[in-house]
Amino acid sequence: MSAQTKPPQLDWLIRNARVATLSDSEHTYGALNNATIGLAAGKIAVIESDSNAAETLHATNEIDAQRQWLTPGLIDCHTHLVFGGNRAQEFEWRLQGESYQTIAQRGGGIVSTVNATRTLSQEALFEQSAPRLERLLEEGVTTVEIKSGYGLNLQHETAMLTVARRLGEEYPVTVRTTFLGAHAVPPEFQAASNPKQAYIDHVCQEMLPAIAESGLADAVDVFCEGIGFSVAQCEQVFRAAQAFQLPIKGHVEQLSNLRGAVAAAKHHAMSVDHIEYLANDDVHVLKDTVAVLLPAAFYFLHETQKPPVNALRAAGVAMAVASDLNPGTAPMASLLNAMNQACVLFDLTPEEALRGATCHAARALKCHDKGVIRVGADADLALWGIDHPAELSYAINFHRPTAVWQDGKLSKQ
Ligand code: NIG
Ligand code: FE
Repeated sequence: MSAQTKPPQLDWLIRNARVATLSDSEHTYGALNNATIGLAAGKIAVIESDSNAAETLHATNEIDAQRQWLTPGLIDCHTHLVFGGNRAQEFEWRLQGESYQTIAQRGGGIVSTVNATRTLSQEALFEQSAPRLERLLEEGVTTVEIKSGYGLNLQHETAMLTVARRLGEEYPVTVRTTFLGAHAVPPEFQAASNPKQAYIDHVCQEMLPAIAESGLADAVDVFCEGIGFSVAQCEQVFRAAQAFQLPIKGHVEQLSNLRGAVAAAKHHAMSVDHIEYLANDDVHVLKDTVAVLLPAAFYFLHETQKPPVNALRAAGVAMAVASDLNPGTAPMASLLNAMNQACVLFDLTPEEALRGATCHAARALKCHDKGVIRVGADADLALWGIDHPAELSYAINFHRPTAVWQDGKLSKQ
Protein backbone atom coordinates (compact mmCIF):
# COMPACT_ATOMS: atom_id res chain seq x y z
CA MET A 1 0.00 0.00 0.00
CA SER A 2 1.46 3.40 -0.98
CA ALA A 3 1.94 6.22 1.50
CA GLN A 4 -0.85 8.21 -0.20
CA THR A 5 -3.48 5.50 0.19
CA LYS A 6 -2.55 4.47 3.73
CA PRO A 7 -5.51 5.49 5.89
CA PRO A 8 -4.65 7.85 8.76
CA GLN A 9 -4.41 6.40 12.26
CA LEU A 10 -7.85 7.36 13.59
CA ASP A 11 -8.70 7.99 17.24
CA TRP A 12 -12.43 7.82 16.66
CA LEU A 13 -14.91 6.60 14.07
CA ILE A 14 -18.51 7.76 14.31
CA ARG A 15 -20.46 5.41 12.03
CA ASN A 16 -23.98 5.66 10.58
CA ALA A 17 -24.60 9.32 11.38
CA ARG A 18 -26.85 11.80 9.71
CA VAL A 19 -24.63 14.87 9.55
CA ALA A 20 -25.42 18.60 9.54
CA THR A 21 -22.07 19.67 8.15
CA LEU A 22 -23.12 23.35 7.71
CA SER A 23 -20.12 23.45 5.38
CA ASP A 24 -21.94 25.05 2.45
CA SER A 25 -24.82 27.46 2.23
CA GLU A 26 -26.47 25.87 -0.83
CA HIS A 27 -27.70 22.62 0.73
CA THR A 28 -30.07 22.61 3.68
CA TYR A 29 -27.92 22.14 6.79
CA GLY A 30 -25.17 20.87 4.41
CA ALA A 31 -26.76 17.53 5.28
CA LEU A 32 -25.32 14.05 4.65
CA ASN A 33 -27.83 11.24 4.97
CA ASN A 34 -25.45 8.52 6.17
CA ALA A 35 -21.80 9.17 6.83
CA THR A 36 -18.88 7.90 8.83
CA ILE A 37 -16.68 10.54 10.41
CA GLY A 38 -13.09 9.81 11.43
CA LEU A 39 -11.19 11.89 13.98
CA ALA A 40 -7.41 12.05 14.34
CA ALA A 41 -5.19 14.31 16.45
CA GLY A 42 -8.01 16.70 17.32
CA LYS A 43 -9.13 17.18 13.72
CA ILE A 44 -11.79 15.75 11.44
CA ALA A 45 -9.67 13.47 9.26
CA VAL A 46 -12.25 11.56 7.19
CA ILE A 47 -15.83 12.08 6.03
CA GLU A 48 -16.99 8.97 4.19
CA SER A 49 -20.48 8.79 2.68
CA ASP A 50 -19.90 5.49 0.86
CA SER A 51 -20.79 2.72 3.33
CA ASN A 52 -18.59 0.12 1.55
CA ALA A 53 -15.59 2.42 1.82
CA ALA A 54 -16.47 3.14 5.47
CA GLU A 55 -16.27 -0.61 6.21
CA THR A 56 -12.55 -0.53 5.46
CA LEU A 57 -11.89 2.19 8.05
CA HIS A 58 -10.84 1.36 11.60
CA ALA A 59 -10.07 3.41 14.68
CA THR A 60 -9.02 3.03 18.28
CA ASN A 61 -12.57 3.89 19.37
CA GLU A 62 -15.76 3.38 17.37
CA ILE A 63 -19.37 4.32 17.95
CA ASP A 64 -22.49 3.41 15.98
CA ALA A 65 -24.55 6.61 15.85
CA GLN A 66 -27.63 4.62 14.77
CA ARG A 67 -28.67 7.48 12.46
CA GLN A 68 -28.62 10.13 15.15
CA TRP A 69 -27.72 13.63 13.92
CA LEU A 70 -24.14 14.87 14.25
CA THR A 71 -23.60 18.65 14.34
CA PRO A 72 -20.56 20.81 14.99
CA GLY A 73 -20.12 21.48 18.71
CA LEU A 74 -22.16 24.57 19.60
CA ILE A 75 -20.36 27.91 19.96
CA ASP A 76 -21.60 30.59 22.36
CA CYS A 77 -19.83 33.66 20.96
CA HIS A 78 -21.06 36.25 23.52
CA THR A 79 -21.22 35.63 27.27
CA HIS A 80 -20.42 37.43 30.50
CA LEU A 81 -20.53 34.23 32.54
CA VAL A 82 -17.81 35.20 35.04
CA PHE A 83 -19.39 37.46 37.66
CA GLY A 84 -20.26 37.64 41.35
CA GLY A 85 -23.69 37.80 42.96
CA ASN A 86 -26.96 38.20 41.13
CA ARG A 87 -29.47 40.94 40.25
CA ALA A 88 -32.76 39.38 41.41
CA GLN A 89 -33.62 42.53 43.35
CA GLU A 90 -33.14 44.65 40.23
CA PHE A 91 -35.46 42.21 38.44
CA GLU A 92 -38.13 42.99 41.05
CA TRP A 93 -37.61 46.76 40.61
CA ARG A 94 -37.97 46.40 36.84
CA LEU A 95 -41.19 44.41 37.25
CA GLN A 96 -42.51 47.30 39.35
CA GLY A 97 -41.90 49.62 36.39
CA GLU A 98 -38.37 50.96 36.77
CA SER A 99 -36.28 50.77 33.60
CA TYR A 100 -32.86 49.15 33.05
CA GLN A 101 -31.52 52.61 32.17
CA THR A 102 -32.80 54.43 35.29
CA ILE A 103 -31.46 51.68 37.56
CA ALA A 104 -28.06 52.07 35.87
CA GLN A 105 -28.19 55.87 36.19
CA ARG A 106 -28.66 55.67 39.96
CA GLY A 107 -25.61 53.45 40.37
CA GLY A 108 -27.28 50.03 40.11
CA GLY A 109 -27.14 47.74 37.11
CA ILE A 110 -23.67 46.82 35.86
CA VAL A 111 -22.01 48.72 38.74
CA SER A 112 -23.85 46.64 41.36
CA THR A 113 -22.37 43.49 39.78
CA VAL A 114 -18.95 45.22 39.76
CA ASN A 115 -19.28 45.74 43.52
CA ALA A 116 -20.29 42.09 44.04
CA THR A 117 -17.49 40.79 41.79
CA ARG A 118 -14.77 42.88 43.47
CA THR A 119 -15.54 41.35 46.87
CA LEU A 120 -14.70 37.82 45.66
CA SER A 121 -11.38 36.03 45.64
CA GLN A 122 -10.39 34.48 42.32
CA GLU A 123 -11.24 31.09 43.80
CA ALA A 124 -14.74 32.23 44.81
CA LEU A 125 -15.26 33.85 41.40
CA PHE A 126 -14.28 30.56 39.75
CA GLU A 127 -16.65 28.60 42.03
CA GLN A 128 -19.59 30.93 41.28
CA SER A 129 -18.93 30.98 37.53
CA ALA A 130 -18.20 27.28 36.87
CA PRO A 131 -21.83 26.05 37.23
CA ARG A 132 -22.94 28.51 34.53
CA LEU A 133 -20.33 27.11 32.16
CA GLU A 134 -21.38 23.57 33.11
CA ARG A 135 -24.98 24.30 32.05
CA LEU A 136 -23.72 25.44 28.61
CA LEU A 137 -21.49 22.39 28.20
CA GLU A 138 -24.38 20.04 29.00
CA GLU A 139 -26.04 21.38 25.85
CA GLY A 140 -23.14 20.54 23.53
CA VAL A 141 -21.25 23.84 23.69
CA THR A 142 -17.57 23.24 22.87
CA THR A 143 -16.43 26.86 22.43
CA VAL A 144 -17.42 29.84 24.55
CA GLU A 145 -16.47 33.51 24.57
CA ILE A 146 -16.19 35.03 28.06
CA LYS A 147 -15.96 38.79 28.67
CA SER A 148 -14.56 40.73 31.57
CA GLY A 149 -16.35 44.01 32.38
CA TYR A 150 -17.39 43.54 36.01
CA GLY A 151 -13.98 44.41 37.46
CA LEU A 152 -13.41 47.83 35.88
CA ASN A 153 -9.94 48.22 37.35
CA LEU A 154 -6.79 46.42 36.37
CA GLN A 155 -6.74 44.12 39.40
CA HIS A 156 -10.29 42.85 39.02
CA GLU A 157 -10.44 42.79 35.21
CA THR A 158 -7.26 40.69 35.36
CA ALA A 159 -8.91 38.41 37.92
CA MET A 160 -11.97 37.91 35.70
CA LEU A 161 -9.87 37.09 32.62
CA THR A 162 -7.66 34.75 34.67
CA VAL A 163 -10.76 32.90 35.89
CA ALA A 164 -12.05 32.70 32.30
CA ARG A 165 -8.75 31.19 31.12
CA ARG A 166 -8.77 28.73 34.05
CA LEU A 167 -12.29 27.60 33.12
CA GLY A 168 -10.91 26.76 29.67
CA GLU A 169 -8.13 24.72 31.26
CA GLU A 170 -10.34 22.79 33.69
CA TYR A 171 -13.31 22.05 31.42
CA PRO A 172 -13.48 20.45 27.96
CA VAL A 173 -14.13 23.71 26.11
CA THR A 174 -12.24 26.27 24.07
CA VAL A 175 -12.49 29.66 25.82
CA ARG A 176 -12.00 32.93 23.93
CA THR A 177 -11.58 35.86 26.31
CA THR A 178 -12.63 39.46 25.70
CA PHE A 179 -11.54 42.56 27.66
CA LEU A 180 -14.64 44.72 28.27
CA GLY A 181 -13.10 47.47 30.39
CA ALA A 182 -15.36 49.99 28.62
CA HIS A 183 -18.56 48.49 30.08
CA ALA A 184 -19.53 51.17 32.65
CA VAL A 185 -17.90 53.92 34.73
CA PRO A 186 -16.66 52.44 38.03
CA PRO A 187 -17.63 54.23 41.28
CA GLU A 188 -14.12 55.66 41.91
CA PHE A 189 -14.32 57.72 38.67
CA GLN A 190 -17.72 59.28 39.44
CA ALA A 191 -16.15 62.32 41.15
CA ALA A 192 -14.09 63.29 38.05
CA SER A 193 -15.27 66.38 36.13
CA ASN A 194 -15.97 64.17 33.07
CA PRO A 195 -16.23 60.66 34.55
CA LYS A 196 -16.78 58.80 31.26
CA GLN A 197 -13.86 60.44 29.46
CA ALA A 198 -11.56 60.17 32.47
CA TYR A 199 -12.31 56.44 32.74
CA ILE A 200 -11.92 55.81 28.99
CA ASP A 201 -8.53 57.55 29.07
CA HIS A 202 -7.59 55.24 31.96
CA VAL A 203 -8.81 52.16 30.05
CA CYS A 204 -6.76 53.12 26.98
CA GLN A 205 -3.61 54.38 28.69
CA GLU A 206 -3.31 52.12 31.73
CA MET A 207 -5.52 49.05 31.62
CA LEU A 208 -5.40 48.02 27.97
CA PRO A 209 -1.59 48.07 27.65
CA ALA A 210 -1.27 45.91 30.78
CA ILE A 211 -3.99 43.50 29.67
CA ALA A 212 -2.43 43.23 26.21
CA GLU A 213 0.97 42.58 27.79
CA SER A 214 -0.51 39.84 30.01
CA GLY A 215 -1.91 37.94 27.01
CA LEU A 216 -5.14 37.37 28.94
CA ALA A 217 -7.44 38.88 26.29
CA ASP A 218 -8.12 37.60 22.79
CA ALA A 219 -10.27 40.64 21.85
CA VAL A 220 -11.59 43.98 23.11
CA ASP A 221 -15.26 44.96 23.49
CA VAL A 222 -17.12 48.21 24.36
CA PHE A 223 -20.63 49.23 25.45
CA CYS A 224 -21.63 51.97 23.01
CA GLU A 225 -24.83 53.43 24.45
CA GLY A 226 -26.28 56.45 26.24
CA ILE A 227 -25.76 54.65 29.57
CA GLY A 228 -22.40 53.33 28.29
CA PHE A 229 -19.91 55.26 26.16
CA SER A 230 -20.14 57.56 23.13
CA VAL A 231 -19.12 56.52 19.64
CA ALA A 232 -16.01 58.75 19.90
CA GLN A 233 -15.04 57.12 23.22
CA CYS A 234 -15.54 53.63 21.77
CA GLU A 235 -13.43 54.54 18.75
CA GLN A 236 -10.70 55.66 21.16
CA VAL A 237 -10.79 52.15 22.69
CA PHE A 238 -10.77 50.52 19.23
CA ARG A 239 -7.66 52.48 18.24
CA ALA A 240 -5.93 51.60 21.51
CA ALA A 241 -6.79 47.91 21.03
CA GLN A 242 -5.55 47.90 17.48
CA ALA A 243 -2.24 49.39 18.57
CA PHE A 244 -1.77 46.04 20.39
CA GLN A 245 -3.12 43.98 17.44
CA LEU A 246 -6.17 43.01 19.47
CA PRO A 247 -9.33 42.48 17.39
CA ILE A 248 -12.39 44.50 18.40
CA LYS A 249 -16.15 44.09 18.72
CA GLY A 250 -18.98 46.13 20.25
CA HIS A 251 -22.22 46.10 22.19
CA VAL A 252 -24.00 48.51 19.85
CA GLU A 253 -27.53 49.69 19.07
CA GLN A 254 -28.98 47.73 22.01
CA LEU A 255 -31.20 50.47 23.48
CA SER A 256 -30.87 53.31 20.95
CA ASN A 257 -29.25 54.05 17.59
CA LEU A 258 -25.93 55.85 18.06
CA ARG A 259 -24.51 54.23 14.88
CA GLY A 260 -21.87 52.41 16.92
CA ALA A 261 -22.14 49.50 14.47
CA VAL A 262 -20.99 51.76 11.63
CA ALA A 263 -18.00 52.92 13.68
CA ALA A 264 -17.16 49.34 14.72
CA ALA A 265 -17.38 48.06 11.12
CA LYS A 266 -15.13 50.93 9.98
CA HIS A 267 -12.55 49.59 12.47
CA HIS A 268 -12.98 46.04 11.03
CA ALA A 269 -14.85 44.68 14.06
CA MET A 270 -15.16 40.89 14.29
CA SER A 271 -18.80 41.36 15.28
CA VAL A 272 -21.44 43.89 16.27
CA ASP A 273 -23.69 42.57 19.01
CA HIS A 274 -27.35 43.24 19.98
CA ILE A 275 -28.16 45.68 17.07
CA GLU A 276 -31.91 45.91 17.74
CA TYR A 277 -31.78 49.62 16.80
CA LEU A 278 -29.49 49.21 13.75
CA ALA A 279 -31.06 51.13 10.84
CA ASN A 280 -31.87 49.23 7.64
CA ASP A 281 -29.77 51.76 5.74
CA ASP A 282 -26.69 50.90 7.83
CA VAL A 283 -26.85 47.14 7.34
CA HIS A 284 -24.65 47.29 4.22
CA VAL A 285 -21.59 48.24 6.34
CA LEU A 286 -21.57 44.73 7.86
CA LYS A 287 -20.26 42.84 4.82
CA ASP A 288 -17.19 41.55 6.74
CA THR A 289 -18.57 41.84 10.29
CA VAL A 290 -20.80 39.23 11.93
CA ALA A 291 -24.14 40.43 13.34
CA VAL A 292 -24.56 38.74 16.75
CA LEU A 293 -28.21 38.48 17.80
CA LEU A 294 -28.90 38.28 21.55
CA PRO A 295 -32.61 37.54 21.92
CA ALA A 296 -32.42 36.72 25.65
CA ALA A 297 -31.58 40.36 26.50
CA PHE A 298 -34.40 41.55 24.21
CA TYR A 299 -36.79 39.18 25.99
CA PHE A 300 -35.60 39.94 29.51
CA LEU A 301 -35.73 43.74 29.05
CA HIS A 302 -39.23 43.64 27.48
CA GLU A 303 -37.74 45.22 24.35
CA THR A 304 -40.03 45.77 21.39
CA GLN A 305 -37.57 47.01 18.75
CA LYS A 306 -36.37 43.97 16.78
CA PRO A 307 -33.05 43.77 14.93
CA PRO A 308 -33.34 44.30 11.14
CA VAL A 309 -33.20 40.58 10.34
CA ASN A 310 -34.83 40.86 6.89
CA ALA A 311 -32.34 43.53 5.82
CA LEU A 312 -29.41 41.53 7.26
CA ARG A 313 -30.58 38.41 5.42
CA ALA A 314 -31.10 40.29 2.16
CA ALA A 315 -27.61 41.81 2.42
CA GLY A 316 -26.06 38.38 3.07
CA VAL A 317 -24.72 39.39 6.50
CA ALA A 318 -23.68 36.43 8.65
CA MET A 319 -25.97 36.29 11.71
CA ALA A 320 -24.76 34.57 14.88
CA VAL A 321 -26.91 33.73 17.90
CA ALA A 322 -25.53 33.82 21.45
CA SER A 323 -26.82 33.55 25.01
CA ASP A 324 -25.35 36.87 26.34
CA LEU A 325 -25.37 35.02 29.69
CA ASN A 326 -25.06 37.82 32.28
CA PRO A 327 -26.74 38.83 35.56
CA GLY A 328 -28.46 41.99 34.30
CA THR A 329 -30.08 41.37 30.92
CA ALA A 330 -29.77 37.63 30.27
CA PRO A 331 -29.65 35.35 33.33
CA MET A 332 -30.00 32.36 31.01
CA ALA A 333 -27.39 29.61 30.77
CA SER A 334 -28.73 28.06 27.57
CA LEU A 335 -27.61 28.52 23.99
CA LEU A 336 -30.38 26.19 22.77
CA ASN A 337 -32.89 28.50 24.43
CA ALA A 338 -31.30 31.47 22.65
CA MET A 339 -31.74 29.60 19.35
CA ASN A 340 -35.43 29.08 20.12
CA GLN A 341 -35.80 32.77 21.04
CA ALA A 342 -34.02 33.83 17.84
CA CYS A 343 -36.67 31.91 15.87
CA VAL A 344 -39.72 32.94 17.91
CA LEU A 345 -38.76 36.58 18.65
CA PHE A 346 -36.56 37.51 15.66
CA ASP A 347 -38.01 35.24 12.92
CA LEU A 348 -34.85 33.29 12.16
CA THR A 349 -35.36 29.90 10.57
CA PRO A 350 -34.17 26.93 12.66
CA GLU A 351 -31.39 26.45 10.12
CA GLU A 352 -30.30 30.08 10.52
CA ALA A 353 -30.38 29.61 14.31
CA LEU A 354 -28.17 26.49 14.11
CA ARG A 355 -25.75 28.21 11.72
CA GLY A 356 -25.86 31.16 14.13
CA ALA A 357 -24.71 28.97 17.01
CA THR A 358 -22.06 27.13 14.96
CA CYS A 359 -20.42 28.38 11.76
CA HIS A 360 -21.41 32.04 12.06
CA ALA A 361 -20.50 32.11 15.76
CA ALA A 362 -17.10 30.68 14.78
CA ARG A 363 -16.66 33.55 12.32
CA ALA A 364 -17.58 36.05 15.05
CA LEU A 365 -14.66 34.69 17.09
CA LYS A 366 -12.34 34.23 14.10
CA CYS A 367 -12.17 30.51 14.90
CA HIS A 368 -12.11 29.53 11.26
CA ASP A 369 -11.62 25.79 11.86
CA LYS A 370 -14.64 25.50 14.11
CA GLY A 371 -18.42 25.48 13.69
CA VAL A 372 -18.36 23.26 10.63
CA ILE A 373 -17.89 19.58 9.76
CA ARG A 374 -15.29 19.29 7.00
CA VAL A 375 -11.98 17.50 6.65
CA GLY A 376 -9.33 19.52 8.46
CA ALA A 377 -11.76 21.27 10.80
CA ASP A 378 -11.41 20.94 14.56
CA ALA A 379 -12.97 17.75 15.95
CA ASP A 380 -15.62 19.53 18.08
CA LEU A 381 -18.86 17.62 17.58
CA ALA A 382 -22.23 16.92 19.21
CA LEU A 383 -24.49 13.92 18.58
CA TRP A 384 -28.23 14.31 19.07
CA GLY A 385 -31.10 11.81 19.32
CA ILE A 386 -33.38 13.81 17.03
CA ASP A 387 -35.08 13.18 13.70
CA HIS A 388 -34.46 16.63 12.22
CA PRO A 389 -32.02 19.43 13.11
CA ALA A 390 -34.91 21.92 13.40
CA GLU A 391 -35.82 20.13 16.65
CA LEU A 392 -32.87 21.81 18.36
CA SER A 393 -34.50 25.22 17.93
CA TYR A 394 -38.06 23.99 18.35
CA ALA A 395 -38.17 22.29 21.74
CA ILE A 396 -37.40 24.21 24.93
CA ASN A 397 -35.24 22.57 27.63
CA PHE A 398 -35.68 19.21 25.95
CA HIS A 399 -32.59 18.12 24.06
CA ARG A 400 -29.18 17.22 25.37
CA PRO A 401 -26.47 15.64 23.20
CA THR A 402 -25.96 11.90 23.61
CA ALA A 403 -22.22 12.39 22.98
CA VAL A 404 -19.85 15.35 22.63
CA TRP A 405 -16.29 15.42 21.29
CA GLN A 406 -14.13 18.41 22.05
CA ASP A 407 -10.67 18.65 20.51
CA GLY A 408 -11.12 15.09 19.26
CA LYS A 409 -11.77 13.61 22.71
CA LEU A 410 -15.07 12.25 23.95
CA SER A 411 -16.11 14.70 26.67
CA LYS A 412 -19.63 13.49 27.36
CA GLN A 413 -21.60 10.30 26.82
O1 NIG B 1 -24.96 42.41 26.93
N1 NIG B 1 -25.28 45.89 27.51
C1 NIG B 1 -24.31 45.70 28.19
N2 NIG B 1 -23.87 44.57 28.72
C2 NIG B 1 -24.67 43.41 29.02
C3 NIG B 1 -25.47 43.56 30.26
C4 NIG B 1 -24.66 43.88 31.42
C5 NIG B 1 -25.43 43.93 32.72
O2 NIG B 1 -26.54 44.51 32.79
O3 NIG B 1 -24.86 43.41 33.68
C6 NIG B 1 -25.53 42.98 27.84
O4 NIG B 1 -26.74 43.22 27.79
FE1 FE C 1 -23.40 41.37 26.38
